[in-house]
Amino acid sequence: MGKALSAVLFDLYGTLLDVHSVAGRADQLFPGRGSALSQLWRDKQLEYTRLRTMSSRYVPFTQVVEDALQYACDALHLPLDSAGRGLLMHEFTQLTPFADAVPALQRLLAADLTVGVLTNGDPGQMEDALHGAGLDDYFDVLLSADQARAYKTAPAVYELGPLTLGHPAAELLLISSNGWDAIGAKWYGYRSFWVNRSSAPIERLDGQPDGIGRSLSDAVDFALRLHSGGKS
Ligand code: LAC
Repeated sequence: MGKALSAVLFDLYGTLLDVHSVAGRADQLFPGRGSALSQLWRDKQLEYTRLRTMSSRYVPFTQVVEDALQYACDALHLPLDSAGRGLLMHEFTQLTPFADAVPALQRLLAADLTVGVLTNGDPGQMEDALHGAGLDDYFDVLLSADQARAYKTAPAVYELGPLTLGHPAAELLLISSNGWDAIGAKWYGYRSFWVNRSSAPIERLDGQPDGIGRSLSDAVDFALRLHSGGKS
């Protein structure tokens, strides 16, 4: 039987908030190209976080997001002017929460678990995004990769959980829709759950999340089972 669960940490972008909700606004600016732009923009964000971490060239995620936007527009031959850049960067602070986010958070709070966010986002960006999505009242702790000046899957980022919460990683559950993040947390020593909304194949990396499901509701079922199992 595992140890009791002390806290649940959520990934933010793609897990609680739909990063592709920017596609609608992008489509208004560049008709017919919104979804291609959204996809490449997101892929480049992640690539840049990894390159910068590998070479110790940290800049805050807001800067990474803006650089990735410019690259994606250049690659797709979309003319991005400063008004368009401002609109899309603002849109990134107003991402739509997934419909299952609020019910999931409410169930965890009712269970008296400590609930937090562990994200690549920088603090101002995370707070704007949580506020924009109406999620700012649900968290006991907000942890940003900015504190480690590195990005997931650097151990220094996952270390923020145990350091801040004062519990070993084995008592923490990370819930993420990014399969590589669920595995990165596991590498560090967390328990983890992958919310695989799109039936993607499992990442071919060492190790697997402890649980896999289709929704945040499945993730909370898993967390509550661990919580009660660890106590008995
Ligand atoms: C985050 C990225 C991984 O929120 O989506 O950390």
